Amino acid sequence: MRILLVYATTEGQTRKVARAAADRLASDGHSVEMIAAADVLTGDLPDFDAAVVAGSVHLGRFQKDLEAFARKAAPELNCCPTLFLSISLSAAGDDPDDWTGLQDILDRFVADTVFQPGRVSHVAGAFRFTEYDFFRSWAMRWIAAQKGVKVDPHTDLELTDWGALDTAVAEWASAAAAKV
Ligand SMILES: Cc1cc2nc3c(=O)[nH]c(=O)nc-3n(C[C@H](O)[C@H](O)[C@H](O)COP(=O)(O)O)c2cc1C
Repeated sequence: MRILLVYATTEGQTRKVARAAADRLASDGHSVEMIAAADVLTGDLPDFDAAVVAGSVHLGRFQKDLEAFARKAAPELNCCPTLFLSISLSAAGDDPDDWTGLQDILDRFVADTVFQPGRVSHVAGAFRFTEYDFFRSWAMRWIAAQKGVKVDPHTDLELTDWGALDTAVAEWASAAAAKV
């Protein structure tokens, strides 16, 4: 399949997740075009058979560029197999309120953009202290403390389960290939 992979990132973890997904898809023989949402907003959409859309949650919403891309491309996206990768710290835990919150954030994204993902995978993100400013660093230390996660404010902490991501992407692609 020709797979379009569009992502938006604030501190870089979603780019890393998108790269891992792209590598998995390419090694399974697909042709993957990986583009940042901001870069695909201005030009024409490339042709594709299936698409992966990836973004991260900040203060209860996905990146504005990702929203704008999904709104613009919804007619094409809704006609083919799609996988939405939602990256967050809530997905690293099992707090039911956090998971309800993630569902609400996703529902709002779908309502706002009219893009209806065929499949959704929630992916645990990372604390990227090396990317935060002073205030963000304090806020994220506070959140880590609330969640009982031990952090070192000078070191990034990756919570992404790369094996689970790999499985989710491979399974989606094989189901998608059977449809196109
Ligand atoms: C300022 C800020 C706000 C965040 N808000 C949320 C949130 O509302 N819910 C959540 O689950 N994670 C939240 N996160 C965690 C991010 O989703 C997580 O760090 C993710 O790995 C960021 O991905 P990125 O590096 O691609 O931007 C927040 C992180 C930051 C720095």
